[in-house]
Amino acid sequence: MAKQTVLVSGGAGYIGTHTAVELLATGYDVVIIDNLSNSETAAVEGVRRISGVNVPFEQVDTCDEQALRKVFERYGFDSVIHFAAFKAVGESVHEPLKYYRNNLTSFMNICALMHEFGRPNILFSSSATVYGDADTLPVTEQTPRKPATSPYGNTKQMAEDILRDCCAAYDGMYGVALRYFNPIGAHPSALIGELPRGVPQNLVPYITQTAAGIRECLSIFGNDYPTPDGTCLRDYIDIVDLAKAHVATISRMTQGRMKQRYEIFNIGTGRPVSVLELVHGFEKANGLKLNYRIVGRRAGDVPAVWADTRLANEELGWRAERPLEETLRAAWAWEKHLRKIQ
Ligand code: NAD
Ligand code: WQD
Repeated sequence: MAKQTVLVSGGAGYIGTHTAVELLATGYDVVIIDNLSNSETAAVEGVRRISGVNVPFEQVDTCDEQALRKVFERYGFDSVIHFAAFKAVGESVHEPLKYYRNNLTSFMNICALMHEFGRPNILFSSSATVYGDADTLPVTEQTPRKPATSPYGNTKQMAEDILRDCCAAYDGMYGVALRYFNPIGAHPSALIGELPRGVPQNLVPYITQTAAGIRECLSIFGNDYPTPDGTCLRDYIDIVDLAKAHVATISRMTQGRMKQRYEIFNIGTGRPVSVLELVHGFEKANGLKLNYRIVGRRAGDVPAVWADTRLANEELGWRAERPLEETLRAAWAWEKHLRKIQ
C-alpha cells in the first residue's frame, strides 16, 4: 500500500512536533505547515534530526486561504491534523478578536479546502477546557460542555461544532476532536519540547524555569480548594503519549474504522494529580528542591478536572503509558537543553 501523507498544521509547535515524530516513526509521510507565530524553525529541525527524515516544511498562515490552497495543490495528503491556533487563555480575554479571527478562520479554511479537494479526514485539537467546572468527575465525552469562560475556550467549542456540522453536511468528510487534558513533558531525546514565550502561564514550564533559576519562585495558586491537599487536581498527560493518540486516531480514520462521521475522545491518563503532588514529584524525579510559595487562587481555575479515558482506550486502542516520574525528568532535561545547563 502506498504511504499515506498527513498535513500537520501548526506542526512546528509543542504538540505538533511530537506528533510529527510519532507519525514518521509509524510510517506516515508528513508535511508541516506553520506561520511560526509561536514557534521556530529549529523545532522542525528537531523533528528532522529525531526522525532522520527531511520533512517538508512550508511557512504558511492557515488564515491565508490562497497560500493554504497552494499547499493543497502541491501535496496529496488524505488527512490533516489541525494544531494551528493561539492558546493563551488569559490573553484571549483581553484580545478576543485575535483569538476568534486566528483560531476560527484558520480552521474554517482547513475544512473548506478539505471539502473542496475531496480530502476526507480532519483531526482537530480540542481541549478539556470545553468541560469547564464539570458537575461530575471524571468527565466522559458525554459530560455536558459548560459555557466557555474565555474566548479561547469558546473557539474550541465553536470549532468542535463547525467540524460536527461539516461532517454531517459533506459526504465523505470525517472528523475527530481530541480533547487534551494537560500536556506536559518533552521528547526523551530533549531535541524538541515546549517553548513558552515570556513568563510561562502553565505549571510545568514555570516549574522548570524556576529550577533553572530563570524564575525566582513558583507561586502555587490556592491551597483551599475542596481537594485532598487543597490544591487543584488535573490530568497531566505526557506529550509523547499524547502524540501517539494522534497516530492511533489517524490510523482509525485512514483504515475506515470510525463508527460515526464525527467522533470525540478524551486524551488523558484518567488519574488526578494535585499541584503539590506534581511539584514534589518533580523534585523527587530530578533530585532537586524547588522554591515555591502558596498564594491566592488564580481567577478562572476549576478545582478539579480529569478524564474518563475508557472510550479512547477501547476505541483507539491507546492508553497513556509513560510514568509521571519519567515525564518530569524529560521536562527538566528539555529545560536544561534549552538553557545549556549541564
Ligand atoms: P503551540 O503554540 O506550541 O503550537 C501551535 C502552533 O501553531 C505554533 O507553532 C504556531 O506558530 C502555529 N500557528 C498559530 N496560528 C497559526 C496560523 N494562523 N497559521 C499557521 N500556524 C499557526 O501550541 P500547542 O501546545 O502545540 O497546541 C497545539 C494545539 O493544541 C492548539 O490548537 C491548542 O489550542 C491545543 N491544545 C493545547 C493544549 C496545551 O496545553 N498545550 C491543551 C489543549 C489543547
Ligand atoms: C495547572 C494547575 C493552576 C501555574 C490550561 C488551559 C487549558 C489547557 C491546558 C489549552 C492549576 C496551577 C499553574 C503556576 C500554579 N490548554 N498553577 N502555578 O489551567 O489546568 O489548563 O492549560 O487548551 O485550556 O486553561 O493548566 O498548567 O495553567 O495549571 O499553581 O504558576 O497549576 O492553578 O491548578 P490549566 P496550568
